[in-house]
Amino acid sequence: MTTSAKPGGSGGASPQKGYVKVCALEEIPADGALGVEVDDTPIAVVRSGADVYAVNDICSHAEVSLSEGEVYDGTIECWLHGSCFDLRSGKPTNPPATQPVATYKVKVEGGDVYLSLGDD
Ligand code: FES
Repeated sequence: MTTSAKPGGSGGASPQKGYVKVCALEEIPADGALGVEVDDTPIAVVRSGADVYAVNDICSHAEVSLSEGEVYDGTIECWLHGSCFDLRSGKPTNPPATQPVATYKVKVEGGDVYLSLGDD
């Protein structure tokens, strides 16, 4: 792992406008997910291999937390009925869910994970 912490940080600085720190990378289980909230939006921060993704934490089929499901093959599986959601696109890869979940931009810097909920 490379760390590029800059000395003399004045606190509160985020790596780029619009990004907020949500957790340390090590808080997310390997090939697992951590549920966080940003601006009252529940988000599953997911580690899949060496990559980190963020998707809306509420399944598009019913109101259950995707972060409590299993992560494999680049997807997170809803534990209730078994739909898997592609971590890149948020699209379900199998029924019963038919609607995608929102995805969010993620940055990992200095061992911390930052999210942006920006629309663009
Ligand atoms: S609640 Fe997630 S697939 Fe049904």
